[in-house]
Amino acid sequence: MRLPSCAALALALLLLPLVAQANDPYSWAQPGKVQIRHLDLDLNLDFKAQRLSGTATLSLDWKDPEAQNLVLDTRDLAIKSVTALGPGGETRPLDFNLANSEPPLGSKLTIVAPKQPEKVRIAYRTSPDATGLQWLTPAQTADKKAPFMYSQSEAIHARSWIPLQDSPAIRFTWNAHITAPTGVRVIMSAINDPDHPLDGDFRFEQPHPIPSYLMAIAAGDIDVIETGPRTAVYAEPSVVKKAAHEFEDTEQMIETAESLYGPYRWGRYDILVLPPSFPYGGMENPNMTFATPTAIVGDKSLVSLIAHELAHSWAGNLVTAASWRDIWLNEGITTYVQGRITEAVYGEKQANEEILLAARRLKATIDDMPENAQRLVPEPRPVGAEDARTRVAYDKGSWFMRTLEQRFGRRHFDAWLKSYFNHFAWHSITTEQMMAWLKKNLIEKYPGNMSWDEATEWVYGTGIPDDASLPTSKAFAAIDRQREAFLAGKLPAAELDAADWNTQEWMYFLNRLPKETDLDRIKPLDAAWHLTGTPNAEIGMRWYRRAIAAGDKAVWPAAAEHVTHIGRLYLTMPVYEAFVQTPEGLAFAKQVYARAKAGYHPLTRHAVESLFASATDQQAAPASTSG
Ligand code: BES
Ligand code: ZN
Repeated sequence: MRLPSCAALALALLLLPLVAQANDPYSWAQPGKVQIRHLDLDLNLDFKAQRLSGTATLSLDWKDPEAQNLVLDTRDLAIKSVTALGPGGETRPLDFNLANSEPPLGSKLTIVAPKQPEKVRIAYRTSPDATGLQWLTPAQTADKKAPFMYSQSEAIHARSWIPLQDSPAIRFTWNAHITAPTGVRVIMSAINDPDHPLDGDFRFEQPHPIPSYLMAIAAGDIDVIETGPRTAVYAEPSVVKKAAHEFEDTEQMIETAESLYGPYRWGRYDILVLPPSFPYGGMENPNMTFATPTAIVGDKSLVSLIAHELAHSWAGNLVTAASWRDIWLNEGITTYVQGRITEAVYGEKQANEEILLAARRLKATIDDMPENAQRLVPEPRPVGAEDARTRVAYDKGSWFMRTLEQRFGRRHFDAWLKSYFNHFAWHSITTEQMMAWLKKNLIEKYPGNMSWDEATEWVYGTGIPDDASLPTSKAFAAIDRQREAFLAGKLPAAELDAADWNTQEWMYFLNRLPKETDLDRIKPLDAAWHLTGTPNAEIGMRWYRRAIAAGDKAVWPAAAEHVTHIGRLYLTMPVYEAFVQTPEGLAFAKQVYARAKAGYHPLTRHAVESLFASATDQQAAPASTSG
């Protein structure tokens, strides 16, 4: 365990008040000069042109009396005009300069505004290649009848559909007026009315100050089923019934979280199930979680995804990481709360299995990561904002929270976490602000349970502290014994006691099959348990990557179908990675991708193409320099 020197730490704490004011390295914005307080969107949604176009009107808080400019983030936006709006509604054109794009930040938009207007209106349109939007043709949807579009703004993609200050440190309220073809339902990250007529004219209002990465929109042939007094499920007509059944416990989840951390402050909590090309598992858009359909497997075994996104209503959306450097405050604390909700609604066995799956994976991989990536707060910061999203943020972050819970006991720890959410509600904060609250209100209040050094080691140190404890699982222990006997040739595949394994138990069995498992183990496993073609993509991903690595070409068509149908990075990339290990597999994967590409999100395209490029390079290199 290595720590940065005490001097560096002391300096970091001393600079604490400055950190909140400092510019975000992933944004062009200059929040010390001016900040967006409110956003008014007026956009037309054009499926044919695959564009949003209209105006964004920003209400501004000028902070620096000397400031001359308003600097905004944009990416691939065409800016038509910029106007200042006076208090009486009078307008005045403003000069602006749109710089060339500098990846990964995008184009800096500098608006010349020496008179510091209260409001600035920007007329613009998006590009069909906006990194934060996916446009699907009818053929690419489940029901094939209407086109579909949706956004994914986190981490820094809001700027590809709205010109704004794209930094999590800056919060604003917003309203929107969206026009669209009639018959289409438009949804945003605000309160949505399940009975809204599909008349092509939608209005939204988000009265709570949110950071830009929580801006979201979707539109398409979308039905609604209400699942409780403040919950509903939105999805394409052929999916919505199954989805409403899978997610029917959402109200119970909300009540659990409320009993632990205080009232759900947002009003409604709805879920939109997206087409399978959605690149993530879920996204915590306020009032309207966006979710992958791969979580719907019929037995609710993957619904802790909803517990996770719901938990963000406290950790992330209410108290927000001020910078992507601090993303563990969102994802680590949320993953901890996810476990508490899962435990209360689905029982300790389920919750412990999920905790163990994540913790064992982290433990097995963290020592091989670059030292800096092992820290909850990497210093220097990761190069790209998306690079900050690592298993460490989720799994080490939640492990730290569980350790605090064990040391201080649930009574004190739960009360402390609730006080954290209440104290920092509606604010964006740094790790150092969180840690100061921890020190004062838990560590020093109940001395003898955990030292301050130990706490800072979790945050700034590498690896996992040696005494970090884990729950136990009888089912997993039995699976370990069976896997061993099976691999040693002492237990035939058909005699595995797997008939009643749940999703997590299969995941655990497959996770720990060695990468170089032999074909003569793989074949009987498939014959006995019919893993190829499984409708459960968590099991499918784990199965295909091992079977491909073992050289089982019989699974190739089903594996190709898996990656073609599913764009969720975490379920698709490991299968592509298994394919590209051999020249023949790489050639096959390229063919599969050529057909699948049209249905993929820009992020998935980018990930697959980067993988192909590095695999092609590696295979072209002479044997002596490769590997
Ligand atoms: N907020 C994240 C997704 C995210 C983070 C997107 C950073 C882009 C940048 C979301 O809450 C999340 O963690 N999703 C997980 C769900 C899983 C942990 C249940 C995912 O997509 O895998
Ligand atoms: Zn999350």
